[in-house]
Amino acid sequence: MAHLFNRNVLLGVSGGIAAYKSAELVRQLQGRGASVRVIMTLGAREFITPLTLQALSGHPVHTQLLDTDAEQGMGHIELARWADLLLVAPATADLIARLSAGRADDLLTTAALATTAPLMLAPAMNQQMWQDPATIANITQLSARGAHIVGPAVGQQACGDVGPGRMEEPPVIADAAASLFESGLLAGKRVIITAGPTREALDPVRYISNHSSGKMGYALAQAAVDAGAITTLVSGPVNLAPPKHVQCLPVQSATEMLEKCLALLPECDIFIACAAVADYRPATIEQQKIKKGPEQVILQLARNPDIVAAVAASENSPFTVGFAAETNDVLSYARDKMQGKGLDMIVANDVSDLSIGFNSDHNEATVLWRDGEQVLARSGKSAIARQIVELIGAINKVGKCV
Ligand code: PMT
Repeated sequence: MAHLFNRNVLLGVSGGIAAYKSAELVRQLQGRGASVRVIMTLGAREFITPLTLQALSGHPVHTQLLDTDAEQGMGHIELARWADLLLVAPATADLIARLSAGRADDLLTTAALATTAPLMLAPAMNQQMWQDPATIANITQLSARGAHIVGPAVGQQACGDVGPGRMEEPPVIADAAASLFESGLLAGKRVIITAGPTREALDPVRYISNHSSGKMGYALAQAAVDAGAITTLVSGPVNLAPPKHVQCLPVQSATEMLEKCLALLPECDIFIACAAVADYRPATIEQQKIKKGPEQVILQLARNPDIVAAVAASENSPFTVGFAAETNDVLSYARDKMQGKGLDMIVANDVSDLSIGFNSDHNEATVLWRDGEQVLARSGKSAIARQIVELIGAINKVGKCV
């Protein structure tokens, strides 16, 4: 079944007899993994009560454009931003005409103008209204602007007519909605990704760190979400906003990152260690700022725990993927790391090339696993991340390495 994991569906219900089917549609969308919020037009409330859709969606139903309570919570702009898809079902002839004209005279049409999410319409009306040149022109215009139209179905209508105009059945509409999004390769899988650098404190104002920007790890989080995974980022300090639908847990040091990862492990199917974790930390952290003194000071360092190795060695370990950041003999060091740390897969990248790797928008890599390898040609980190996720999906299905 097509899925809607990690997708927010804003369901618009307009005033037609098919509005009663919206209740089942909420269930069908949720069954495919979507979060659903509902906007009802004035007309829709003549056919079905907001309470029904509130009970099913688990959220208050939105009805008014000018509603001070809603504006303080989730007003029309927040709803428009929240949505990954605006689905209008049923879409009456009047609603279709107003959308086509770009009107903003109620909450639903205003949200449609204010959102960048795709628009999907499930028309429902009398067969003659559907075949009227005005409706045909409106649908043609909306399609040309990128709206997706599902149905209508042909058959017996509530008014007694027979012909095209019945709203499609809820499972068909929910499948059409799901088909707009990506493959669902990791649908429902729980993925943890470490990203960014760690900071190892020397004193209250100084630390040891590295140049990791978090771009590669955050791109992986986006790719995992797009593939339907329930995704958590355990992130060192970076200047990036976490992707939508990703739970982000900020950490500073390697020890903190290890603690967070181990706590999350019971709920993890796939672990991807992209963070540039400091191998060593200052042996002691001074409580006060270290004063300038002699010409030379010797810093004592203590080895940090190896996070990805600990994950791979844990009981019921997830499918564990590491990265190898190397400057020479990239593949042979990467292979050693995969074996030494007990990993199922490793992504080897050459960080001596400043145009890829640390802090760059691009990367190129070779992915190694027990009985295969694949070169990922130079491209943006998003494209590299998508390919890594595809490989994880494919190899993980075949079976874990032992
Ligand atoms: O963040 P960006 O600017 O986008 O840069 C991306 C990147 C270069 C940081 C990324 O592509 C990358 O290579 N990440 C791994 C960096 C690294 O620490 O590599 P390593 O070869 O030192 O470590 C091997 C593996 O062990 C890594 O998966 C690392 O996360 C893990 N590790 C290392 C040390 C440690 N104490 N614990 C670990 O889990």
